[in-house]
Amino acid sequence: MRRSTAAHLARKPASLGHVEAAAVPMAGLTAYQFVVEHLALGTGGTVLVNGAAGGVGHFAVQLARIAGAEQVIRVASGRYEPS
Ligand SMILES: NC(=O)c1ccc[n+]([C@@H]2O[C@H](COP(=O)([O-])OP(=O)(O)OC[C@H]3O[C@@H](n4cnc5c(N)ncnc54)[C@H](OP(=O)(O)O)[C@@H]3O)[C@@H](O)[C@H]2O)c1
Repeated sequence: MRRSTAAHLARKPASLGHVEAAAVPMAGLTAYQFVVEHLALGTGGTVLVNGAAGGVGHFAVQLARIAGAEQVIRVASGRYEPS
């Protein structure tokens, strides 16, 4: 088990509400551990995120781009298509 340190803290951006900010750590850390630590992407690859509209998935999409993926393919159901 990892010890928590002050380096694990981050200031909440003013543009983000407290409720939204409270939702970030669990799903965000899950995506971070998989995309950044487990996948250890190089630059230029393609990543497919299944469930890209979900709590973990929407972080994974953004982190994959930040981590260097050239292309991120997002899989989500049709309910998000604009009417
Ligand atoms: N959230 C966390 O903190 C956390 C932590 C550890 C592990 N997990 C695990 O990570 C997974 C995702 O969690 P989440 O919080 O991101 O859940 P979520 O917000 O409910 O998102 C799950 C996504 O999966 C998609 N989905 C559901 N049924 C599907 C199917 N039959 N085929 C393809 N896609 C399907 C949905 O896509 P559409 O929206 O496009 O319909 C939904 O966006 C779960 O297994 C969860 O147990 C989550």
